[in-house]
Amino acid sequence: QDNRFQAIISHAKEYGFVFPSSEIYDGLSAVYDYGPYGSELKKNIRDYWWKSMTQMHENIVGIDAAIFMHPTTWKASGHVDSFSDPMIDNKDSKKRYRVDHLIEAHADKLKEEGKEDLANSILKKLEELDAKGDLAGLKKLIDDNKIVCSISGTSNWTDIRQFNLMFKTEFGAVASDNPDDNIVYLRPETAQGIFVNFLNVQKTSRLKIPFGIAQTGKAFRNEIVARQFIFRMREFEQMEMQFFIRPGTQKEWYEYWKEERLKWHLSLGIPAEKYRYHNHTKLAHYADAALDIEYEFPIGFKEVEGIHSRTDFDLSQHQKYSGKKLTYFDNELNQHYIPYVIETSIGLDRMFLLILSHAYQEEKWVKEDGKEDSRVVLRIPAKIAPVKLAVLPLVKKDGLPEIARSIITECTPYFKCFYEEKDTIGKRYRRQDAVGTPFCVTVDHQTKEDGTVTIRYRDTMKQERIPVKEIKDKLLDLLIF
Ligand code: GAP
Repeated sequence: QDNRFQAIISHAKEYGFVFPSSEIYDGLSAVYDYGPYGSELKKNIRDYWWKSMTQMHENIVGIDAAIFMHPTTWKASGHVDSFSDPMIDNKDSKKRYRVDHLIEAHADKLKEEGKEDLANSILKKLEELDAKGDLAGLKKLIDDNKIVCSISGTSNWTDIRQFNLMFKTEFGAVASDNPDDNIVYLRPETAQGIFVNFLNVQKTSRLKIPFGIAQTGKAFRNEIVARQFIFRMREFEQMEMQFFIRPGTQKEWYEYWKEERLKWHLSLGIPAEKYRYHNHTKLAHYADAALDIEYEFPIGFKEVEGIHSRTDFDLSQHQKYSGKKLTYFDNELNQHYIPYVIETSIGLDRMFLLILSHAYQEEKWVKEDGKEDSRVVLRIPAKIAPVKLAVLPLVKKDGLPEIARSIITECTPYFKCFYEEKDTIGKRYRRQDAVGTPFCVTVDHQTKEDGTVTIRYRDTMKQERIPVKEIKDKLLDLLIF
């Protein structure tokens, strides 16, 4: 499975999907850049989410808030005090670990050695201590079990410290006596931009509860353990929606969004058995219920999206810290209240990795002539594929390129097309398979006679002839959301 993950990472780089950031300087840990195919795919996933939220729900509107926010935002939201992970350093190797990851890795090793019961009792203890924030207890757990650092092999640990995950930077050029005055944070979640705009949006859009506000944008976290490619990054993008509801109705809306969001994933044609829900026992500081939608990545089942019942925590906090009233008047109930919130929060980069993990296939088969053939194909759902249609003239002469060009001219305003005349048609098909283009159209000499082309389907490799004038509408039918 790890080989498959490595193959996906190499493929993503080789075909211009994802590059390590500033690679000529040996990269920057857990930061990545999206190449030509990657940026198209990422945009298509974002658009698909945006459309499903704001266009398909008449009571959800979008916003685009700034990354920088007033620093008090993060005091009020609890991130300054609570958005941290316990970490520990090994004094010999100087390697830093997230405490839960260190203990979990130890438990995994014990399981491999057949010591299942001991591993489970350690994990149970970890959960208890973690929930209480008992740092001394966690240190004792590490010491008692003689957990060693994988690099130095020693158990020479520092004390455990809380490490805040927010990045800080200085705002403005005016020096102040107190350096803290100029500090702003890079937002660690997009959600707060929605909360602080709650009344602006509600009033200007004249929305009635229940209604939602959707947003996509960058978020930043100084992750201690940042690895596994784009799964855990220090700069990443979120797609979040806060759904504002009457207090007391949170259970039913939580259930509603839990199902609705899974349906969204399945609407992309990804098999249901690759997904599962994971209910949280340890809740974030703002939640009264929370679950993850997990997907079976090549590295195991992992979180791709969170559904959180955030109560009135955030709005109440912002009301307290800002001194501004953030209540809503419900004229059906004739009552003022601070709305409750159900949040759906999905990582765009993680969804991108999910799509690659689902799509990447190495295929081998025996042809009619008995010879072996093979290909690497990205079975990206057609509606979000970077390029929808490749138009390929069979030869570079006899007027075939001109016909191919005219097809491109007709289709390009509707969806992304690609033209190529170099190499054999077989090689050109393979290259389109490798970047996930769902449809190829080949223009040959028969096209000149009867106005038909061959359309080839990426997933089945089946081919059929269709009239040139039907190409655009046929694809539009296949690509509709
Ligand atoms: N507003 C709620 C919130 O931020 P979260 O569970 O911390 O909740 C939501 O994050 C989603 O954001 C996760 O399910 C994941 O897809 C994505 N995410 C979080 N941290 C990430 C990171 N370091 N790199 C990539 N994606 C991340």
